[in-house]
Amino acid sequence: MPAVSFQEVSKTYNTFRGTFQALDDVSFDIGRGEFFGLLGPNGAGKTTLISILAGLNRASAGRVTVMGHDVVLDYAQARKQLGIVPQELVFDPFFSVRETLRIQSGYFGVKNNDDWIDEVLYELGLEDKAGANMRQLSGGMKRRVLVAQALVHRPPVIVLDEPTAGVDVELRQTLWQFIAKLNRQGHTVLLTTHYLEEAEALCHRIAMLKRGRIVALDRTANLLAGTASTMLRFKTDDALPPQLAPQARVTGRIVQLKAHDAAEVETLLAALRQAQVRVEELEIGRADLEDVFIEIMQGAEQPAAQGAQGTQGVAA
Ligand SMILES: Nc1ncnc2c1ncn2[C@@H]1O[C@H](COP(=O)(O)OP(=O)(O)O)[C@@H](O)[C@H]1O
Ligand SMILES: [Mg+2]
Repeated sequence: MPAVSFQEVSKTYNTFRGTFQALDDVSFDIGRGEFFGLLGPNGAGKTTLISILAGLNRASAGRVTVMGHDVVLDYAQARKQLGIVPQELVFDPFFSVRETLRIQSGYFGVKNNDDWIDEVLYELGLEDKAGANMRQLSGGMKRRVLVAQALVHRPPVIVLDEPTAGVDVELRQTLWQFIAKLNRQGHTVLLTTHYLEEAEALCHRIAMLKRGRIVALDRTANLLAGTASTMLRFKTDDALPPQLAPQARVTGRIVQLKAHDAAEVETLLAALRQAQVRVEELEIGRADLEDVFIEIMQGAEQPAAQGAQGTQGVAA
């Protein structure tokens, strides 16, 4: 039995402009003990899928189970299996950190939970904030409390929806060390993130969602190997020649160009030289997950490719 199973999940929202399909026939399983990444641009449907998993939102069609429990028919059992760190910072400003965590423990029927609460506070660098009122905390500290809140009942499945958006580097490291430790101890993790380097470093498998459809699903290593491309990175103040400009990824002065092999690297460099582009700090490296992501998101413009890739690597 998988930890999480999404079976032909679709979601249609009714809006004043008519109906909007946020999820379209999404199916995949997350194995027990897996560290699974769900990636996709803003509006792809990640939070919608997670809110259906959490039982906060109803799918228009399909079925979702957590550790074998249907999230609609067996809501209470399914919810107990889940620790969810929501994307939005929601909290009650009148309670202290410890009170917040005790109340959450009570909600799940967990009594005498202070030892575990202390351990979670320590792991998240919150030990000196236990008595602080929620409203006194900075955004980053509130985010830590949200993580602690999700973990009070030691859920087998931990779900993090963009937990590091707008969060400082220190918290990101603290958080990932702790979550990776819980994953090593057997907890299943489902993560959505904008930080592709985090997903690349942490996730065993990755699904990419675009406009409500799964457009890629595979082991992280396979996704990286699948493009098998070399990236040429350099800095320049000059304009690129017209034959290179459309294929370049430009971030400020940094230009990245993809090459399939050494011969293509030479061709690109020759084209740059001929156009008298002054190249500084040239590096040649492997494509990273961000390159793969951009390629897949662009490729997914052609609807024909979607079904073919969507079923790849789905765990049995
Ligand atoms: N309650 C809602 N009513 C109408 N549309 C919604 C609602 N919630 C989300 N959407 C729309 O569904 C799409 C997916 O949103 P969301 O699941 O939040 O995406 P993501 O988390 O990937 O950014 C977006 O276009 C969003 O505007
Ligand atoms: Mg979201």
